[in-house]
This record gives sequence, C-alpha cells and structure tokens, in this order.
Amino acid sequence: MFEIQAAPGGVGAFVHGIDIRSDVNGNVAGELKQALGDYGVLFFRDQEISEQDHIAFAEQFGQINVNRFFAANDRFPQIAMVVKEPDQTGNIGGGWHTDHSYDQEPALGSILVAREVPERGGDTLYANMYAAYDALSDGLKETLNGLRALHSSRRAFGANTEYAPRKDGRIGNPELATQDSIHPVVITHPISGRKALYVNGGFTIRFDGWTEDESKPLLQYLYAHASRPEFTYRFKWEKGSIAFWDNRATWHYAVNDYHGSRRVMHRITVEGCALSA
Ligand code: OGA
Ligand code: MN
Repeated sequence: MFEIQAAPGGVGAFVHGIDIRSDVNGNVAGELKQALGDYGVLFFRDQEISEQDHIAFAEQFGQINVNRFFAANDRFPQIAMVVKEPDQTGNIGGGWHTDHSYDQEPALGSILVAREVPERGGDTLYANMYAAYDALSDGLKETLNGLRALHSSRRAFGANTEYAPRKDGRIGNPELATQDSIHPVVITHPISGRKALYVNGGFTIRFDGWTEDESKPLLQYLYAHASRPEFTYRFKWEKGSIAFWDNRATWHYAVNDYHGSRRVMHRITVEGCALSA
C-alpha cells in the first residue's frame, strides 16, 4: 500500500511505496488522482520506467494530449521532449506558468520524468493556487469571483514571441498558436471542489471585458502574491524522479541555473476538461 506524505513546503506530496509500472490499477489510479487534486503535485522517486511504462501510467488518468508546440520523442509521439543541451542558454518553462490554459479544455496535468539531470541545478518550483486564493482578502476574492480572463498561446509560442528566436528545434508550429480561451479567474477545481486562482503569467492576456493596460496592475499583483515562497515547494530532481502536477491547482517554474550541462525530461500531458467558477 502506498503512502502520501505532504512535501515540506506550500504545495505537493511525495508518494512512497509504489512502483508505477505494476502498482497502478483502477483503484490506485483513482486514489492518486484524488491526491493530485488535493496536493496539486505528486512526486515519485526511484522509478526506473521505460517510455511505454510512462505512457501506460499516463493513460490511467485520461487521454494523452500530444502537445502541438514541443518537439516529440522520436519513437513515441505521445512524449514531448523538454531538453536543454550544454550549449543552449534558454530553457523551457523558465517563468511561472501553468500549461495549456490557452486551451478551451485545459489539460489536467503533466507527468514529467527525469531522464538526464545536471549534477547541480535544474530544480522545478511549484506554487499552490488554492493557498494563493485562500490568502486573499474577502473583498478581492469577491471581485475576482466575478471575473473571467482571456488566455492565449500566442505570447509564448506564436511567431516573433518568447520562444520564436530559438530556432533550435525544441519548439515549433508557431502558426498553431491561434487558440484563445476564456476561463473564470477563480475556478472550482474539478477534482477537489476547492476554489483556486486561475490566471498565470505565461498565458493570461487580460481580464475579459478589460483592456490589457487595465488588466496589467491587478494581474501583476496576483502574480506577485501567488508566487510568495510560503505557497511554493522546490523539487530537486534525481534520475528516476517523476513529478505529476495538476495544471488547475498549481503553477510551475523551471529554474535555468545549469548552463553547460544537459537536462533531458520526458513529458506526457493528460487531457482535462472545461473549467467553471
Ligand atoms: C513543462 C515545464 C518544467 C521543467 O514541461 O511544461 O514547464 O522543470 N517543465 O522542465
Ligand atoms: Mn510547463
């Protein structure tokens, strides 16, 4: 029987006593999904898994979303490659964001497996959007509960934007960065039923019905608030580590502090659902 131990920080939990190759059937998957909704991120250590094991594990939680911007694994298109080579300076995910908020039905989460990690550095930070919401004043909560926001992949993945100058094969298809979506600023989490703040610096453009200029100060306030250290946990990767995060309850941030070393991660994204207030 596996055990869940809350991480010593503001978000996430470690899952002990499990081999994800053999121990995850219907019941266990259901319990892990519940824990994912409650804790926001599940961390696993020492999982020696193949690409097929990774895919089979992901399929226990929903359909796989093949990300349209990331370079895919040569043999398994379901696996996106999150790589930084020793001679590359930019990394993927090096700012607070949550994946896929630009989709109408944002992905439930991502399962990231460490394949090659630098000796030092390359940690990932996570932040807890339940805690961020809970810590707001009643007045601001009320205001935010009446708002929706526009999200877009254009700023990160479109032509002439964040990743565009890096014609290094890691990110592509800027012409597909067209889908915008509108979500409530405060969502009711589909698994836990708890309220979570749902805007992020990677993809949120503005509040619905507001201009970008009008939106900016309040969004900046929320970004500073939600990334306060007390809501976060910094995960140190080892070979065989896995992080399974929920995109609706958390943000993440890939620390880019290992220039000259190689870091190779395999990511599978699991489909989610439309979000409601
Ligand atoms: C991602 C991402 C974080 C990391 O794959 O979506 O942001 O630490 N990665 O590689
Ligand atoms: Mn990401």
